[in-house]
Amino acid sequence: MWLDQLSISGLRNIASQTLAFSPGLNVIIGDNGSGKTSLLEAIYLLSCAKSFRTPQLNRVKNHTGDGFRLFARIFNPQADELIPVGVEYKAGRMLIKVAGQVLRRSSDLATRIPVVVIHQESLRLLTHNVSYRKKFLDWGVFHVEQDYISHWRRYSRGLKQRNLALQQRNGSKGSESIWDKELILSAHQLDQARKRYISEFTPYFIDYLRQMLVADYTTTVEYYRGWAADIDYGEVLQVGLSRDRQVGYTMAGPHRADLLVRMNKVQVQDIASRGQLKQIVLAMYMAQVAVFNQRMGKGCLILLDDITAELDDRHIAMTLSVFERMGCQVITTSTELGRLQGHCKKGGKVFHVERGLFEEVIQYAAIKTMDVI
Ligand SMILES: Nc1ncnc2c1ncn2[C@@H]1O[C@H](COP(=O)(O)OP(=O)(O)OP(=O)(O)O)[C@@H](O)[C@H]1O
Ligand SMILES: [Mg+2]
Repeated sequence: MWLDQLSISGLRNIASQTLAFSPGLNVIIGDNGSGKTSLLEAIYLLSCAKSFRTPQLNRVKNHTGDGFRLFARIFNPQADELIPVGVEYKAGRMLIKVAGQVLRRSSDLATRIPVVVIHQESLRLLTHNVSYRKKFLDWGVFHVEQDYISHWRRYSRGLKQRNLALQQRNGSKGSESIWDKELILSAHQLDQARKRYISEFTPYFIDYLRQMLVADYTTTVEYYRGWAADIDYGEVLQVGLSRDRQVGYTMAGPHRADLLVRMNKVQVQDIASRGQLKQIVLAMYMAQVAVFNQRMGKGCLILLDDITAELDDRHIAMTLSVFERMGCQVITTSTELGRLQGHCKKGGKVFHVERGLFEEVIQYAAIKTMDVI
């Protein structure tokens, strides 16, 4: 599955543009503020109807317009077919169409176009709160376990109702427990699926990390399921009920799951340098894509924002070759072509962007002589 062609209109500084991509490596070169990240944002929007930069889509549309429109052709090599995908945002509403059919849920879009984005803020996966790691974990499991989303929906619905009951001061005591059965069942399913996932993910992660990190550290990744390992979830809900009533929400459960990455037994954010944190984050994404590749027999679409600012030459080479070997389409941005030029083999494409206008560069040598680089 790869992105064959994309038309964008009214998104940030991109007025109207159509690009035809290579199924392999695509390099987007441009000065600061030219529109590189906006292009990746548009592609990411196609995969889940969300931006990786802001939860407010109103900010993503061009500030003079009333919305944005994306139209893509996704090539499915297994069926040898081109699938048209349209995403339109107007007056605060999102309309998603795949092959002419309107999709009700953005998660239906995600199964069709799995996209991984690695950008300036991806370090938050290790340095910020648990929500980033939980999202990472959920992406991984969601894409390889068919029933995961339905367990997650059941759990979320049950959790919401239980929390509402906990908050209702005048509500009859015990009404929270009506939801316990539903919660316990779906919590168990989510936990089992996540455990299976982590057992597949960990060997890949350790292996990629060994290739990435020069320093000789012992790195471990541990899955915390959101409640103690030695106690049944039903018991947790019962024992914690009075505390949950006090705070007005359910304190323990799969919604509190986390991934704990440690180097020499110390939490990674307390010991790793900034460069090492970047390498660990990359190894995590590589392992995630490797599990996807192993289970689904195909690659994902990888978006790498400002790759040369983040990595030295050895790590750039390793990153590109790992994703290439897994059959992934890669779209990467940079302000400088020089360090990426050696990777632009036959079949790859280079685009130059200036003020939201993208142009394919046919002769790599020609762009080198341009002053803009
Ligand atoms: N809603 C918007 N409407 C119009 N223009 C916008 C909007 N949001 C951002 N921009 C402008 O779009 C341009 C492109 O931004 P973008 O973040 O894509 O640049 P970039 O090429 O990734 O730059 P950098 O190398 O600094 O990361 C910038 O000039 C920015 O100010
Ligand atoms: Mg940018």
